[in-house]
Amino acid sequence: MPLVPMRQILDEAAKGGYGVGAFNVNNMEQIQAIMQAANDTNSPVIIQASRGALKYSKLIYLKKLMEAATEEFPQIPVSMHLDHGNSVETCQMAIDLGFTSVMIDGSLAEDGKTPNSYEQNVEITQKVVALAHPLGVTVEAELGCLGGIEDGHGAGLSAEEVNDHLTNPVQAEEFVKLTNVDALAVAIGTSHGAYKSGRKDPKTGEVLPPVLAMDRIHEIHKRMPNCHMVMHGSSSVPKELVDIINQFGGKMPGTFGISLEQIQDGIKHGVRKINVDTDSRLAITGAIRKVFFEQPNKFDPRDYLKPARDAAYLVYVERMKAFGQAGHAGDYQPTTLDAIKKLYA
Ligand code: G3H
Ligand code: 13P
Ligand code: ZN
Repeated sequence: MPLVPMRQILDEAAKGGYGVGAFNVNNMEQIQAIMQAANDTNSPVIIQASRGALKYSKLIYLKKLMEAATEEFPQIPVSMHLDHGNSVETCQMAIDLGFTSVMIDGSLAEDGKTPNSYEQNVEITQKVVALAHPLGVTVEAELGCLGGIEDGHGAGLSAEEVNDHLTNPVQAEEFVKLTNVDALAVAIGTSHGAYKSGRKDPKTGEVLPPVLAMDRIHEIHKRMPNCHMVMHGSSSVPKELVDIINQFGGKMPGTFGISLEQIQDGIKHGVRKINVDTDSRLAITGAIRKVFFEQPNKFDPRDYLKPARDAAYLVYVERMKAFGQAGHAGDYQPTTLDAIKKLYA
């Protein structure tokens, strides 16, 4: 089966009341682990690549690996999505490469750091929709900036900007109407990476879990029941995975991620795409460290990449079950970019 437009995967998830994991990849082992997990749980799935991933894998390798993935598992609906596109040109490049979905992250300027104005965000998002939809390609946009609630942790914002960085539900409604995007990434206090909270217990100094503004999701869903929301920064950073890393020579101080319960609450209220990258990185690193530590005589990459792939597989299986996509791969006949572009027209 060819790659399917992400819009269909999200529409079907909305019908079925479940969420779909969007897993970041940089290499063959991650793609294989995701596809094996999708096959074994019978899940539709979204595979995504950041600009960093495209640079690392040199574009054509990723394209060919994705072709191999769809050939090996023809019964699994899978979309290939550009994560955090920073410009019209980057989105165009991903579309030319055969991606069936792109994110234009107009919440930030092209440097991926400086917050854009609302008007700038609307303008660049409209441009990407204008080039993607006539080709049947799905568009995800972002309103608000990721980062912790109290301290803007991970958002790269100044103290004055911190309170304004969450998604405003009234503005979200206007934004979706003005841009006609297929999916909206919302800022509710999550951030990327393994360290999602700068909050500390004043007495013990221990890190506390990030606080999330789930009410923003509830409110957006009330205003726009048909809007597919996306939760970024949604790794759970499981303690077991961090412990393995630390047990075998790593140094990762206390961390907290986003609980599966919080994600499931989001899914009940319109979240259809859940971005997970860090959890796979943790599983892979822990497995490799374990081999290096316990068997220092090993030097064949297969001796540590296979356990790494197996560890990532377990994370994907667990997430696919928790998000509810498991069991839904055969629910629908996958559509094509050609068919869906007629609907946009
Ligand atoms: O957007 C964040 C993802 O985890 C991708 O990270 O830019 O290091 O590939 P990356
Ligand atoms: P995590 O760092 O929590 O895995 O988030 C990944 C993400 O949002 C990619 O866009
Ligand atoms: Zn993200």
